Amino acid sequence: MDRIRIQGGNRLEGRIPIGGAKNAALPLMAASLLTDEQLALSNLPHLADISTLANLLSGHGVAIHMVGEETNEGHVGRVLGLQAKEITSTTAPYELVRRMRASVLVLGALLARAGQAEVSLPGGCAIGTRPVDLHLKGLQQLGAEIELREGYIHASAKKGLHGARFVFPFVSVGATENLLMAAVLARGETELANAAREPEVVDLAACLATMGAKIEGAGTDTIRVQGVDRLHGGTHAVIPDRIETGTYAMAAAITGGDIVLEGARLGQIGALAEILTEAGVTLEEVPGGLRVHRRNADLTGVNVMTEPFPGFPTDMQAQMMALMSTATTASMITETIFENRFMHVPEMNRMGADIAVHGASAMVRGVTGLVGAEVMATDLRASVSLVLAGLVADGETVVHRVYHLDRGYERLEEKLAACGAEIERLKH
Ligand code: UD1
Repeated sequence: MDRIRIQGGNRLEGRIPIGGAKNAALPLMAASLLTDEQLALSNLPHLADISTLANLLSGHGVAIHMVGEETNEGHVGRVLGLQAKEITSTTAPYELVRRMRASVLVLGALLARAGQAEVSLPGGCAIGTRPVDLHLKGLQQLGAEIELREGYIHASAKKGLHGARFVFPFVSVGATENLLMAAVLARGETELANAAREPEVVDLAACLATMGAKIEGAGTDTIRVQGVDRLHGGTHAVIPDRIETGTYAMAAAITGGDIVLEGARLGQIGALAEILTEAGVTLEEVPGGLRVHRRNADLTGVNVMTEPFPGFPTDMQAQMMALMSTATTASMITETIFENRFMHVPEMNRMGADIAVHGASAMVRGVTGLVGAEVMATDLRASVSLVLAGLVADGETVVHRVYHLDRGYERLEEKLAACGAEIERLKH
């Protein structure tokens, strides 16, 4: 298994290209199931999760091919053509779904297009139980019959789905996306109340609209969909990855560096930008991107609570904790979205951090210096937070199990090394 070795202590300076958002790309790829025409997606990142979904979609009859490479605001992204002339199978098997929870995103689209779907239950996950009950309740509201048997979701809508009102008891990004994809081909009007407002939901709605869907209110908490008989193909560019943006902003901040994040958008990271500014980091929009720097100033501790968008993202919580470990004052970091998302804490403490977890909150007391150590990645964002800690730690840090990291960060070592980090991947 690959590991990443970092020799800490270098101040980072330079430019980092931000790729297309993984979490936007996955539902967009699933949307190809909704039409028999080609959906061309540009600015797709090269990531393990994208390949996993491509495999799953091929199994449903989606033909996938490279349409070419395209330069998008200074960086190159993959352009994939996805075409589901016919749905050849409506089963999403356990072998693929267990690798990536987001596979459940094919459920709404398969039901809407083919009238049935058999999708393996995703099962447990390192960052909490993560059920799919909201996805299922919402689809039932749209007329689907759902049974859980032998570890699979068996969903059918023989007479097609119909519009309905569904009120989410709490915000779910994936369930909002699944219901949106189901509703665009349902008969009549659907209203999704307390819907997720994440930029990835807005991006999906924009793509569906170019395919002929009638959607209003994406980006607000009430989304209205007028069902249509069929969708056509289209072309869509995936938005930049706000979590990758935030992560490299933290790399600049934690090393007292100065980095321009090419293609990044400040509007996507509003809550994070506010918190970073409060902590003593400067962010400014520059032509083609976002400059993040911290010079000769200590970091101040700040209190952070994760919330659905536009609040502070849970996917930035671990990285924020690494940053706050090096602040001069204490911070309280509270996780409200996922249970059990503090698995990076013991690893950071092994690097000399002073973090105490009390329920859903972590008290982080800044220390004068972190120390390199061998540490274990437990999930995608936890793994990158250990890399961030390693960038400022005294001596050598080796992060094990970096396959977690490869699910969401493209060429991480290369991007950081280009800005002066001493970082390399050790094979096996
Ligand atoms: C998406 C993101 C993930 C991010 C998360 C929250 C993708 C591929 N993944 O995950 O990176 O951390 O949003 O911003 O886009 N829940 C239920 N029942 C459900 C659905 C969700 O109880 O049916 C719970 C979850 O366990 C969690 C909370 O709702 O506690 C929010 O989860 P959700 O927004 O659905 O996250 P994902 O879409 O899985």
